[in-house]
Amino acid sequence: MSPVDGPGVSNPNLPVDPALVEGRVPDRVPEQVPELHEVDCPPDLKEHIETLMGRYPDRKSASIPALWAVQRLYGWCTPEGIRQAAAVMRVTPAYLESVASFYDLLHTEPVGTHKVAVCTNISCWMRGADELLEAFRSAAGGDEDIFVTGFECLGACDIAPMVSIDERYFGPLEAAEAETAIEQLRTGKDVLPEKALEKRPLAGDAGSTGGVPRAGDADA
Ligand code: FES
Repeated sequence: MSPVDGPGVSNPNLPVDPALVEGRVPDRVPEQVPELHEVDCPPDLKEHIETLMGRYPDRKSASIPALWAVQRLYGWCTPEGIRQAAAVMRVTPAYLESVASFYDLLHTEPVGTHKVAVCTNISCWMRGADELLEAFRSAAGGDEDIFVTGFECLGACDIAPMVSIDERYFGPLEAAEAETAIEQLRTGKDVLPEKALEKRPLAGDAGSTGGVPRAGDADA
């Protein structure tokens, strides 16, 4: 049997893979799933990822939250952190790297400690998001500890124009407030407390939550 007569090569009109004709073999060994004892995974991270995997019929469905946990621990999806998660999940690091590189909120390179995402999608854009983004970039200057980026709809159009700062939502914001927000971030103060989404009254509610604690409440 010639190399081009094998299974799956049934249509003579299709181009033939040169590798089949030449009988080439891959020049790399396929990547292996790392063993847990090779990666020194922090126990808390391992336990958390195992809990995440338990929520899904297919453990791979926990890839995004597992990578999020890696990012929270190390500040970004470090190669070593990805190997640790891969060992726990019994997948290859390349598989998790492919997931991490697809999503803008997951960082595969170092970024600042503080992450500021200014929504520039339609609702926010119509209410001045471009100026807001420019104001945040200008306020952060060249500070490598503060990562500022534009982002598509963050799902809080009702407070447009809005910004996500270290995973908390703020809005509606004026460009002039960017300087204050960045200064509060740098000095460890509570950022724009009066503009935090979790502090806003619930719909149809004049201020009371009816006894239901909200995220961000002191004793919630
Ligand atoms: S358009 Fe900005 S949150 Fe939706």
